[in-house]
This record gives sequence, C-alpha cells and structure tokens, in this order.
Amino acid sequence: VAPATGLGRGSARIDRLVAMACEAAPDSRDTRPIAEIGYDLGQILLRVAERRPDLRVIGVEVQPEAARVTPVPAALRPRVDLRTGDGLAPLAPGECCGLILAGLGGRTIAEVLTRHAEVTRAVDFVLTCPSHLEAEVRPAFAALGMDIADERLVLDRGRYYECVLARPRASPAPRVLDADAPTDPLAAAWGPLLLGRPDPLMVDYLADQAHRFRDALATDLASYRAGHRAALGAKLGMLAAARARLARDTSAP
Ligand SMILES: C[S@@+](CC[C@H](N)C(=O)[O-])C[C@H]1O[C@@H](n2cnc3c(N)ncnc32)[C@H](O)[C@@H]1O
Repeated sequence: VAPATGLGRGSARIDRLVAMACEAAPDSRDTRPIAEIGYDLGQILLRVAERRPDLRVIGVEVQPEAARVTPVPAALRPRVDLRTGDGLAPLAPGECCGLILAGLGGRTIAEVLTRHAEVTRAVDFVLTCPSHLEAEVRPAFAALGMDIADERLVLDRGRYYECVLARPRASPAPRVLDADAPTDPLAAAWGPLLLGRPDPLMVDYLADQAHRFRDALATDLASYRAGHRAALGAKLGMLAAARARLARDTSAP
C-alpha cells in the first residue's frame, strides 16, 4: 500500500514521467536507488518514491537551497536522499539503477550523461524529457552505446514533450530498437518509436513544431546553420519529410 503523502496528482508531463520511471525500474530484488538530476522541488522524484514504496530515490540539485526547501513528506523521508552537486558528480558508478533528467535542455542532458559516462553506462535505464525541442539527446545515447527502449509524447498545458527511455546495450531488459541497427536519419532525429509506431500524438506534434518554427523554416533555417543550433537546424530540415512519412504511414490503404 502506497504511503499517505498528500502529494496528489502531478501535471500530465509529471504523471507520464513518474509512470515511465516506475515501469522501467527493476523489481524490489534490486536495491539500488533511482536518481533524478535537477529535481528542483521534487515533483517527479517524490512521486516516484510514493508510487514505488520498495524503491529508494536520490535527488541531485545544483541549487544548494533545494534540499532545504523541498517538502519531503514524513512517510517518504527514510527513502529520499537529497544531494547538492553538478550533474552525475555526486553519484558513484553502479550506485543507481536508473536516472531521470527532465526539464533541462537537451544539450545539458547530453553533456551531463556524457561527462560522467561511467555512471551513465552502469545504470539499467535513463529517462529523459528535454524542456524544448532539441537534437542532442538521441545522438548522445547512441554514442554512449545505449538503445532506445521507449518513447512517448505528452501534451501538457498546450506544449508537447518527448519522453525518451534508453538502456545500455548490455542490459538484459528487452529492447525495441538496437543501436547497431542501420540508421534511418529521419527516425534517428525525430524519434524511431515516435515516428515508427507511431505515437498517437505525433501528427499533431509535428504540425505544432512546423507552426512554432514557421519563421525559421520560411527563411530556409538560415539562422540554424552554424554553431550550437546546427544540429537542431538539421533536425528541423527533416521536419517536412517526417510529416510526409507519417502521412503516408497513417493514411488508409
Ligand atoms: C526546470 S527544473 C526541472 C525540475 C524537474 N526535473 C521537472 O522536470 O519538473 C530544472 C532544474 O535542474 C537544475 N539543474 C540544472 N543543471 C543542473 C546540473 N548540471 N546538475 C544538477 N541540477 C541541475 C536546476 O537548478 C533546476 O532546478
């Protein structure tokens, strides 16, 4: 029975991430905790602890005051460990069974996972949900030798979010896509499972991105050609083709 914590429901994004993390976490024979990097006020981290009374959780925050101001319900306190630090630095390789990185930019997520690759590679799963459209997270997973195991879109207060779950290639858990499989650039950029299954929200999501980036697309992505925007520019350059493929795949035979 879940402890009475009074946390209530989260937003659609938070509820989706909590459900994906709880589903991905190993069973209670594995006593390693799940860590969330950038837990802020613990909206995701504490709900994971609430939903999985068999799990311990670690929160890592770069803001030193976060541990003091985060309202940890008394019933959860013995299983919640809040640490101050940058990215994966406060975690030892092999200490955690899973990582959650949500509400951070894609470049930050990729950088955090890559800088301490020995920590990333030792977990069973990494769950990400970048704050904005980005193009760095999936390539970082591929470079780390991780396979995408699940991808879901969630619509939260008028904004779409991509939730991407990856597992190290050596993980015994079943995988949907193999990092060694031949690369399809369109699917690699826009989400092999979002586009391939496809996700029920994918048509609307891509239409929304076309609308959000309409000015940049109208100028042929001229301002996205160089520097840190180049990867996103390349992804946006494939948006029309992704929409066309989706239209083809979802149209009645
Ligand atoms: C927008 S909040 C997201 C909170 C929560 N993860 C969510 O998705 O609702 C991002 C948090 O990440 C923290 N953060 C950013 N970079 C970080 C890093 N390198 N290491 C730890 N925390 C970081 C920020 O201080 C901020 O509290």
